[in-house]
Amino acid sequence: MACMYPATSTEPEVLYPYMTNELEKLFETETNWISNAANAAATLGFLMPQLNWAGFYLYNGEELVLGPFWGKPAVTRIPLGKGVCGDSALARKTTVVYDVHQYPGHIACDLFSNSEIVIPLVKDDHLIGVLDIDSPEIGRFSEQDQMGLEAIAKLLIERIDFPIFK
Ligand code: SME
Repeated sequence: MACMYPATSTEPEVLYPYMTNELEKLFETETNWISNAANAAATLGFLMPQLNWAGFYLYNGEELVLGPFWGKPAVTRIPLGKGVCGDSALARKTTVVYDVHQYPGHIACDLFSNSEIVIPLVKDDHLIGVLDIDSPEIGRFSEQDQMGLEAIAKLLIERIDFPIFK
């Protein structure tokens, strides 16, 4: 396996195609979902500037449970409809939080987090979980980031063999 290097630029138009390519390369050689989700979280955490947490919460048929991630230890269980992750999973819609301190019900895992984006992972109408990304910078996630990360989430759903509760 080749080493991963930072992208030549962190501008979204360079970074997102670069991250997509790096993820594709990782998924070519491995099929285990835990390995691929762990490497996906590490790829986002390593390549995206100004992040302090990137990872997965997975739906077990009842609630969201912490999955592979990059960053500090985090809360392990989040009910649907609680926190940014639970709200996003329930609504099945991306949530971009400009300032987490203004978000009612935000669950703080890392005191350095100031903004957050949560993208639901849905396959064939079944909730897999969410991709959760935190930043120490207020307003870190632009519309371009949302579009780029939603495209990456789509790739992850297609290429990672996540457990699906039906
Ligand atoms: N902030 C999230 C909890 C998970 S941590 O950010 C890793 C939330 O409000 O759902």
